Amino acid sequence: MTLGRIVTNSTALADVPAPADTLAFHAALPGYAASPLHELPTLAAELGLDAVYVKDESSRFGLPAFKFLGASWAIARMLGGGADLDDLARRAWTLGVRRLTTATDGNHGRAVAHMARLLGLEATIYVPATCAPARMEAIAGEGADVVTVAAGYDAAVRASIADAAADPSARAANDADLDGTSPFGEWVIEGYGTLFAEAAAQLDAPVDVLVLQLGVGAFAAAGVRWAVAGGVRAIGSEPRGAACIAASLHAGVPVTLATSHTTMACLDAESPSAAGWSTLKHGMEAVIVLEDAESDEAMRGLAALGIESGESGAAGFAGLVALITDPSCASLRRQARRVLVISTEGATDPRRYAEVVGR
Ligand SMILES: Cc1ncc(COP(=O)(O)O)c(C=O)c1O
Repeated sequence: MTLGRIVTNSTALADVPAPADTLAFHAALPGYAASPLHELPTLAAELGLDAVYVKDESSRFGLPAFKFLGASWAIARMLGGGADLDDLARRAWTLGVRRLTTATDGNHGRAVAHMARLLGLEATIYVPATCAPARMEAIAGEGADVVTVAAGYDAAVRASIADAAADPSARAANDADLDGTSPFGEWVIEGYGTLFAEAAAQLDAPVDVLVLQLGVGAFAAAGVRWAVAGGVRAIGSEPRGAACIAASLHAGVPVTLATSHTTMACLDAESPSAAGWSTLKHGMEAVIVLEDAESDEAMRGLAALGIESGESGAAGFAGLVALITDPSCASLRRQARRVLVISTEGATDPRRYAEVVGR
């Protein structure tokens, strides 16, 4: 399937769940701080907008991406909830849970491994063959076993599920729910709600557009729920090399694509998560399909503004730039005056970051 620059979603706005209230849970965890929201007035003026905001997730609970928000909340729910980390660790012990497994392109697996370590659990993290060595080292640095799968993201998800199914003391903790059978994917979306609740409190006035980068769509589902509840238009941005959500919205049903390749490695998904699909179908207005060079350019642009952002982190900003400056996105531009994007990670592959940004 060849996708154009924009895939518009013809499904009417409806049936989008309210965002989850997970802020109190995260705020009670050690090391919590709201991530910064930067207003960029000079850039807004250059783009002819009234305001541009970038929420900067390059440091979350000591990790360089937003993903711990989803992993920590979802693992807590899997364990039946708990007052604090000690309580959760006790519950894991009582339930006989000793090990967590998940697939990852880097950030989710690192977050699961970090939470496992905090709870005194082991972690086995399955990565696709294309995962950057620095991301694997960071996961191993959390004390996890890293297992490479000679295929893409979906195969890594299946490997982690098979592993957990074969071991009564293990539980799968995937952000992608491939077939709608596990509640974990929905809990991950809920956990990301904290990021948007923080943004709501930090914004001095409402935005009218939110641009969200897409991997399996869990992050964007959380953003769409927040956006729809506040009357904000939600627009996706997705790499052409892994545009499974754009393809799915185009088809009207979830579509699996054999992954080609994108430098936006953490967005390199093959299938939408079943947990977020309905939210995206009923709440995301359109997807802008990005070329890899656009996220590199966005990394440089954000670096020049003092914000460290990796390839996938900068993809929302790349979508914003395309939305406002590319003639082929003109049909989506109406009423875009105040725009919010999330820089979802820092330099999680430092070698490539240095190559792209020049420092
Ligand atoms: C930095 C970063 N941004 C965005 C995403 C997209 O999230 P999702 O896969 O839920 O669409 C990911 C996913 O791993 C990520 O690591």
